[in-house]
Order: sequence, then structure tokens, then C-alpha cells
Amino acid sequence: MSEAIEPGPNSTSHVPDYDFGGDVFNLEDPADRELVRFVLSQALYGEATGVYCGKSLYAAGSLEAARFYLRQARQELNHLELFADIFRKLEMEPAPAHWVIRLLSAHNNYYPLKVLMEHALGEGMVLDIFKDVLMQTLPDSDPRIGDIKKKLAVVCREEEEHVAWGEKETRRLLAEKPWLRHPFYGLLLLQLGVAPFVVRAFAERAKGHRVLRHLPGFVAHVQARVRLQGRALGFVPETTPGLVTRLLCMLSGAALFVRSQFARSHSTLEHIYIRELGFKG
Ligand SMILES: [Fe+2]
Ligand SMILES: [Fe+2]
Repeated sequence: MSEAIEPGPNSTSHVPDYDFGGDVFNLEDPADRELVRFVLSQALYGEATGVYCGKSLYAAGSLEAARFYLRQARQELNHLELFADIFRKLEMEPAPAHWVIRLLSAHNNYYPLKVLMEHALGEGMVLDIFKDVLMQTLPDSDPRIGDIKKKLAVVCREEEEHVAWGEKETRRLLAEKPWLRHPFYGLLLLQLGVAPFVVRAFAERAKGHRVLRHLPGFVAHVQARVRLQGRALGFVPETTPGLVTRLLCMLSGAALFVRSQFARSHSTLEHIYIRELGFKG
């Protein structure tokens, strides 16, 4: 069994949570129930894509990585069941995922992009939604929520580990291939650019709604945290570069992403297992 991965010294998992100021959904109100169902449905889809870490196991470049992905696969399948339990408890049916969520959690065969986009950034944003939105906006006054939050606390703890691993692997890959800094920065900018589309989908309903009115503030908080995360990982510059540089980075990020769509996954462990097991090889 692999050891839990602790967040690194610069991990943004320590950044203070967004504060919803005690504003919660009303689970007796059909409109609010629909909103909670929407958020939970995106979470359920995200957990189903947890099986993608099977491909990370296939591509794992060390025994440590292989052990981690094995442990993660077990945890993600467990999260899927936990969210299914939450749906049952709240007597809700899951809906299909929003296109932005499907886009952001798209699978990638190119290992460095997989590590950055799925593990470090993707799971980081998932954690923001679980830790900030769900833990704060589900009403404690509802007798079902205590047990649901206990389940969510387990999920959050494990997602923190997944992000910490993604950050550790991203640092290693950047040290090995420093040229990845520019496309990584471009991809981060593109990912952040997609987030406001979710806000737009709720713009009308957000007016005057005690929880939804926080949406622009929450998205800005996530964007700022992700920028800090990229800076801590060493690929987001201290001062924002000019438009031309940002466009070039986005272009190189998009090009790497397109290339990655045609990449084939390669397994590594059968080439390095003797050394990885501590023999001279
Ligand atoms: Fe998960
Ligand atoms: Fe995860």
C-alpha cells in the first residue's frame, strides 16, 4: 500500500476557502433542489472519469507512481459510490454533465498533460467545488446533511492527496522538460477562460438568489487560486506578460493539446522494473 501524498510547502490547498457567508440552499424548494442536483451531477460525472487514472497506471514511470494510481483508482470508484449514496439520500436522479465539465475533464494520453490537466489543475478545481460549494452551501438544518458532509469530508481529504500528487509529478516533469512551462501556462489560461461559461449559464437565475449571487466571486476566487498554484509550480510568471506572449503561450498549449489527442499511451514499468525494485539492473 502506498503512503498518502502530503501537500507540498507551496500547495494552494492551504489557500483560505471562498466564504459563502452562511448562505445555503433550501432543500425543500424545488428550484434549489434542481441547482443542487446540477452541482452533484457534475461531481458524479467527474468521479466516473476517475477511471482515467487506469491509463495513468499504464503510463506510470516509476513504482511510486504505479502504487499511487492503484490507490487512486480504488478511491475514485469509492467516491462514485459515495456520490450515488448522496443522490439516493436526497431522493434525486443524476443529470448528464455540462459540456464545460466534460471538456475540462477530457481524457489525455500524453502523460505530462494528463498530470497537469487531470491531476494538478482538474482535481484542484474539483476540490474547490467539494470543499467550498458543497460543504458550505448544503444546509446543516436538514437532518440528512450531517451524514452527507461526513462522506464529503472523506472525499475532500482524498482529493487533496490527488492534487498533491499531481503537483509533485508536475514539478518533476517541469524539471525534466523545462520547455513545458510555456504550453502549461497557455493551457492554464485557456482553462481559466472556459470557467465563465458556467457562470453565464446561471446569469439570469443568479439575480437575487442567496447562493448563486456568489458565483462570480467564487469563480474569481478559483481563478486566482489556480494562478497561485501555477506560480508555485513554476510555470506561471510572477508578473502577467503582455497579450502577445499570452497568446503565443495559449497557441503552444493548444498545439500540444491537439498533438496529445493523437498520442499513444506507452507503458514504462516493464522496462524499468528491475531498477525500480532496487536491483542493479
Ligand atoms: Fe474523486
Ligand atoms: Fe481525485
